[in-house]
Amino acid sequence: MITPQELERYQTDGFLVLDSFAQEHECDALRERAEQLVQEFEPAEVVSIFTTHEQSRIADDYFMTSGDKIRFFFEENAFLQDGTLKQKKERSINKIGHALHDLDPVFDRFSRSEKVKQLADAIGFAHSHLVQSMYIFKQPNIGGEVSCHQDSTFIYTEPTDIVGLWFALEDATVENGCLWAIPGGHKCGLKSRWFRNGSGGMEFETFDAEPWPEEELIPLEVKKGSLILLHGLLPHRSLENKSPRSRHAYTLHLISANVKYSADNWLQRSASMPLRGF
Ligand code: FE2
Repeated sequence: MITPQELERYQTDGFLVLDSFAQEHECDALRERAEQLVQEFEPAEVVSIFTTHEQSRIADDYFMTSGDKIRFFFEENAFLQDGTLKQKKERSINKIGHALHDLDPVFDRFSRSEKVKQLADAIGFAHSHLVQSMYIFKQPNIGGEVSCHQDSTFIYTEPTDIVGLWFALEDATVENGCLWAIPGGHKCGLKSRWFRNGSGGMEFETFDAEPWPEEELIPLEVKKGSLILLHGLLPHRSLENKSPRSRHAYTLHLISANVKYSADNWLQRSASMPLRGF
């Protein structure tokens, strides 16, 4: 699935680009399914959530309880002053998360396909749990920025042992908001973690307050069908998409089955939907 040289590069850089991992038709099937899910989604109630302060608490709740559901999150710039959408909902959704891989048959099939499984095996994640999935739209003109972060900040495990699989469902370029990463940055340790503080809110615990050396970020421009492996400690970001082209991606996070998943991570699941592997 990957060569020893590629594995070495992953260990050195903290990321690895595998061109043509997914076939054209596999990318299109995921895109079509996401489109269908958005069509079926009735946004009225959620749109109103973003209009008042009192209701933003409900919006948070919508996010905080989405770990074992299929939910829809809007681009920040999708709304007019009065809380209505600037453009149609298909062009307004930032992402769908966070249990597509368990609840939707199309995403389940892809996420647990033989080649994904073999790849996981090749990087030491044969015995792992599929903890989170996201379909990211990075909409034309309004696709929001994701500032520099490490995924282990949000999916905290002891020890930190997670990997992100980032599938490009369209060409990703600097222009439409591709990923950027700091090669080797995963060796600097975890800077912070985001945890439930016990009174209904979230907080960051900082381990290292030193800012990211953002001048070391390099763009990871990839073709449709490419897979980018991201070490959980790798600093990465993506900039706004101001171009007229979308930049769809599907992401999947794996945690080693042997680590302790924090009970105060934001993403929790109900007892009826325990984490599963391949
Ligand atoms: Fe990330």
